[in-house]
Amino acid sequence: MIENNDDDDDLQLCPTTLAALNEFLREKEERESEFKRNLENQTLDVTFDENWQLSQFWYDEETIDTLVRGAINSTESNGRIALISCPTLYGKLKKNGGKRQVTLFEYDERFQVYGDDFVSYNYKFPLNVPKDMSNSYDLVVTDPPFLSDECLTKTALTIKFLAKKNIVLCTGGVMGELAGRLLDVQICNFVPRHRNNLANEFYCYSNFDFDKMLYRKE
Ligand SMILES: C[S@@+](CC[C@H](N)C(=O)[O-])C[C@H]1O[C@@H](n2cnc3c(N)ncnc32)[C@H](O)[C@@H]1O
Repeated sequence: MIENNDDDDDLQLCPTTLAALNEFLREKEERESEFKRNLENQTLDVTFDENWQLSQFWYDEETIDTLVRGAINSTESNGRIALISCPTLYGKLKKNGGKRQVTLFEYDERFQVYGDDFVSYNYKFPLNVPKDMSNSYDLVVTDPPFLSDECLTKTALTIKFLAKKNIVLCTGGVMGELAGRLLDVQICNFVPRHRNNLANEFYCYSNFDFDKMLYRKE
């Protein structure tokens, strides 16, 4: 809690600003304790409803299990994994991923409950991410919000900035050709599915043999 110190002429906050700042700090503390409680109870599964305004279409449980298994098998036990716009993978990856570091880059601020693992991200500003994260993730998994050239091209900039090499991209079939050109990815045999079926064809692409990683024992 911050208090106004009348003796300090340099830093004087008006009562409204001070109250707002304290409210912000209180909320931050609450989020952090909730995150810690979640970690302790291992209840990190996403329970948030899909918000279609944000183009949110959650994977079904089998898809989450498969992608998480693949991510674990594709990285060393202390590896670093970036999830861009695919928040439903976070909980199980944290639970089953041992010492792997997982960072979620996501626009929906509800996922701030993941504490320091959450990075606020808007694909429209692709390089607006912490500079020290450059070239630091052993695996980047992403599912961009929109099936448009603009969204994929900008997200690809973030992917290239973060990734050491390995990339898994889940997106609509209509984006496959551009994805290949931008990220050198190829279509996988594994096909992701959603809780609520999508109308369009949807695939998984990678720039390494991700299929092989899916069926190895964790
Ligand atoms: C198609 S969904 C992918 C979700 C994934 N299937 C899952 O189950 O985790 C797209 C994701 O992009 C996020 N998103 C929406 N607008 C965004 C933006 N401007 N920048 C980055 N991500 C955004 C949504 O919140 C959502 O998590």
